[in-house]
Amino acid sequence: MSQKIASARISAESSELLKELNNSLPFDRELYREDIRGSRAHARMLAQQGIISAEDFAAIDEGLKRVLEEIESGAFSLDGEDEDIHMAVERRLTELVGDAGKRLHTARSRNDQVAVDFRMYVLRKNEEISALLEALIESLLHKARQHSETLLPGMTHLQHAQPINLGYHLLAYASMFRRDWERFTESAERNRLSPLGCAALAGTPHPVDRRATSEALGFREPTLNCLDTVSDRDFALEILFNIATMMMHISRFSEELILWSSSEFSFVRLSDKHATGSSIMPQKKNPDIPELLRGKTGRAYGNLMSLLTVMKGLPLAYNKDTQEDKEGVFDSVRTAELSLRVLREMIDEMTVNEEAMEAACRRGHLAATDLADWLVREQGWPFRDAYHLVGKVVNYAEELGKDISELEERELAQVDPRLAEAQNLLDNRLCMNARRSEGGTATERTLEQIDKMQKWLLSVRSEG
Ligand code: ARG
Repeated sequence: MSQKIASARISAESSELLKELNNSLPFDRELYREDIRGSRAHARMLAQQGIISAEDFAAIDEGLKRVLEEIESGAFSLDGEDEDIHMAVERRLTELVGDAGKRLHTARSRNDQVAVDFRMYVLRKNEEISALLEALIESLLHKARQHSETLLPGMTHLQHAQPINLGYHLLAYASMFRRDWERFTESAERNRLSPLGCAALAGTPHPVDRRATSEALGFREPTLNCLDTVSDRDFALEILFNIATMMMHISRFSEELILWSSSEFSFVRLSDKHATGSSIMPQKKNPDIPELLRGKTGRAYGNLMSLLTVMKGLPLAYNKDTQEDKEGVFDSVRTAELSLRVLREMIDEMTVNEEAMEAACRRGHLAATDLADWLVREQGWPFRDAYHLVGKVVNYAEELGKDISELEERELAQVDPRLAEAQNLLDNRLCMNARRSEGGTATERTLEQIDKMQKWLLSVRSEG
């Protein structure tokens, strides 16, 4: 019987069921790059501090490079029986370089090892997701610029409310995705602290240099307190929360695309690439892609709840429960990356039906608020009186089977003679362009918002 590499006290071979429950290699192999990178930095530091010899370091460093190559070429398969990625890499290293490999784990525990690996992974994913968000925002800005004059009924309660333009609507989503970007970036900044050197829970008597490994691995500095660090998974919770919130935004957008591509709205046509047919109804073209994006939001929420629940009862410090931190994060990350790519492609390739959007603006009396505003502004009416008079105008228009924007002078005068001169104000485009207050929908304001967002995008890209 082979001696278990990670147990000095346990003699019996593990039960098959224990292995199935305990082994994390089937999923934490996702961390192989980070594990090897962390180990190389650790070994270098050990040599610099005189904890291992220069020869041992050279052997370990060469060996770890080989292990990496073997994993990437498939020569070393991570399908084996090793307990986790850390043990798999150490075992292969020791096979390759012999005794030097056995010195790698000096002044280290798998507790700080997994903490540093997972943190590096999460920090990398924060950046990759942020880059995908930048690309998505860029696409939205491009479309928004094309449609800063395309009329669209702005809604509240899913009822026609006031005329806006499509560019403005798309900018609302760009704004959400920018907040998401900020959250990923802030979270990465907050968590750019290195766990390495914390060892099992309380530090180590070896003269390690945590600042050296921290710097080598791209962290700002070492974490403050080892006891906290080995069981801290806030960085993982943060990316899960940030993904959940981002998926909520993606889901809201998807919901609108689903509505907009229905025959009731016909505001957009999704590219055939992003729609599927029905197995029974030959005429159907279904918006499966936005439906799936909306649906996948569920698992992103679930992964967040699941890790919050794993963490809630843990006494200090490391407990094996935290091994349950990874699969949900991997799943959320995969979901987020795919969703961002798909959403971007869908936006780039959808066709906008400007006539349908504009025609929809002639239903639902979108100009009603504008008429009341005119009475207030030009006639000095108290707003509440104006509001009630416009209510009468709307009722009258309904009787005539017209939209308020279609009423003629004499029809307006029927309700109140003073309204006749307001007739030319009830054009939806005029109403849209009248909303010139800061952050408003007027085309000039929309373009200003696009410019600001574009400037922001350029600035973060040049920093990155
Ligand atoms: N696979 C483990 C995890 O993901 C690594 C840490 C194991 N540490 C321990 N003390 N058993 O958490």
